[in-house]
Amino acid sequence: MAKNKPRTTRSTKGKVANNYRHPESESLMRPDVGTQAQFKKKLPPKKYRYDDSLSPSLEWDGQNPARERGEALIREILDAKAIEEAKAAASKLKAMSKPFLNWAGKAERLSFEVPTLPLFVHERLSTKAILETLKGHRRDKQIDMFDLFGDPQHPIYEQVLRAYEHKDKWVNRMILGDSLVVMNSLLQYEGLGGQVQMIYVDPPYGVKFGSNFQPFVRKRDVDHGDDDDMTREPEMVQAYRDTWQLGLHSYLSYMRDRLLICRELLAPGGSIFVQISDENLHHIRELMDEVFGKGNFIALIAFKKTGFASDDELSTTHDFLVWFAKSKERMKFQPVFGARELTPEELGFYEYIELPNGDRRLLNREEKALGSQIRNNGRPFARNPMISPGWQDSLGFEVEFEGRRFRPPLNRHWATTEDGIERLRRANRLAIKGNTLRYVRYFDDFPFQPLGTVWNDTGVGGFVGDERLYVVQTDTRVVQRCLLMTTEPGDLVLDPTCGSGTTAYCAEQWGRRWITIDCSRVPLALARQRLLTATYPWYKLKEDARGPVGGLEYQGRQNQKGEEVGGIVPHIKLEDIAKNEPSKEEILVDHPEVDNKITRITGPFYSRSDYTNAYGLGDRWHRRLGNVS
Ligand SMILES: C[S@@+](CC[C@H](N)C(=O)[O-])C[C@H]1O[C@@H](n2cnc3c(N)ncnc32)[C@H](O)[C@@H]1O
Repeated sequence: MAKNKPRTTRSTKGKVANNYRHPESESLMRPDVGTQAQFKKKLPPKKYRYDDSLSPSLEWDGQNPARERGEALIREILDAKAIEEAKAAASKLKAMSKPFLNWAGKAERLSFEVPTLPLFVHERLSTKAILETLKGHRRDKQIDMFDLFGDPQHPIYEQVLRAYEHKDKWVNRMILGDSLVVMNSLLQYEGLGGQVQMIYVDPPYGVKFGSNFQPFVRKRDVDHGDDDDMTREPEMVQAYRDTWQLGLHSYLSYMRDRLLICRELLAPGGSIFVQISDENLHHIRELMDEVFGKGNFIALIAFKKTGFASDDELSTTHDFLVWFAKSKERMKFQPVFGARELTPEELGFYEYIELPNGDRRLLNREEKALGSQIRNNGRPFARNPMISPGWQDSLGFEVEFEGRRFRPPLNRHWATTEDGIERLRRANRLAIKGNTLRYVRYFDDFPFQPLGTVWNDTGVGGFVGDERLYVVQTDTRVVQRCLLMTTEPGDLVLDPTCGSGTTAYCAEQWGRRWITIDCSRVPLALARQRLLTATYPWYKLKEDARGPVGGLEYQGRQNQKGEEVGGIVPHIKLEDIAKNEPSKEEILVDHPEVDNKITRITGPFYSRSDYTNAYGLGDRWHRRLGNVS
């Protein structure tokens, strides 16, 4: 039987419960907790360097290095043996004259060091294994149970000897620890550099430094600076003490260090999204310009947040996503389309209607006020211009239509040839507007639109939002769109700010592999629960045996009214009709085919790995905790 074909775990509704696996992906074998003492493969701390050409006024040695550096670059240009060498030095020289963002702590550090620590697996979880255990079906089949947990079942001696050398099957992961240390470990121990297709970062926004975390599972309101709301966890104390000591200055260093490591992890076609509010948006954009390069900026997205802050002046209704590619030229991207609403305003454009008997007429004011409902009466259409700017040449011919003669105005020509216009005529796609001949564009030629940079339909809670589990939870629609635009099934997604696990949840839903990190046990506990109890549609796989990486299945389908309801929809355009070519098709990536007989549950995952107690680091942190409590 193919690996992803449903095994018979029946839910109460008689459906089969199953999860996706990723049989073609591997990761290096990781050691289990308990083997720390025997673990001998220690690695030295890793030093990361910033691009020093970005801070011309660095003055850590008391001289004027900017001038020295400028002179050195001029020498490089003069001595260059090849034009490329000279160009590279000249562009560095040019960069020195640009304005740059500076803060306390930046000038002193051209590099930073991160301890390189192994990650030990604490807990393996699998919804399917839990269901099987509850039903008692497989008590006698221990081997299968291990498999359901994604447990490779390596004996201890093998783990100690072969950890981080031998390949294992892929298992998604939730990791406890500081994102900097964990991401460094993923790079240095696990070789994940250049492997992550998308990173979603929802960091503390860098305001109210005392209330950046939710300290208790059941308490969602956190007061800024209130002692009762102070965390008791060692990792969090570290975060409070060291990370935010200098307020915004510390925050900028905190973000820059992590962004730099994110860049190392990103695949050549990868993307990173940073979620932020308007207070520090400008700083984050500048930091990302520095780390990823201005040329790799893709978009700034404003999305509606839950509730709004009512200031003295305008109320703040949106948060932001700053989107950069590792490399704009190589970025993986597929558009996400949403249904286009036919508003009364849009009907000012689609002002004509074709009735079921074929008659065509202008819509009246009452009909326009109906908005989308007008589609029950017929097919609204616009009369689009059919001319293009430029010399007429052979495209300035005369066209006769309904007893009138038309030519393009001077310095304009028809958008298609005489044959093309004849085809449009036969397809009943010509109409007159005033003194001009136009092309009939039905609203239903393509009733969808690609996402823009303002998303107004988001916001956790309320009637349409997700249930709110965590004080700073992101709406799944926000993460889902980023994920669908920039990744394919089977790709690896990372969120170093797990919180309640929204990114892991979305990645699991769409068949992507995931790793998520948080320095607090509180959000990790919420995320763990959320994933264990989640159900998703079973999107049909093109190749069951390969898992999601083989692709999801999409089909074109219409409902009784003739509306497109499948994942492949025609996109009818003038040029295709005019050239007698079949219309193009678009894929609605969020509408794959669903098998309703299967309830999908979260696949096995390591619900906690961490580096505490590796080389005594955890102990040191625990002692620090003693100092504050
Ligand atoms: C704004 S929340 C993320 C919320 C998430 N988007 C969601 O939907 O639930 C930020 C999270 O980052 C975590 N965090 C902050 N600093 C961290 C660090 N240095 N390393 C790891 N996690 C960190 C916090 O514990 C917090 O849970």
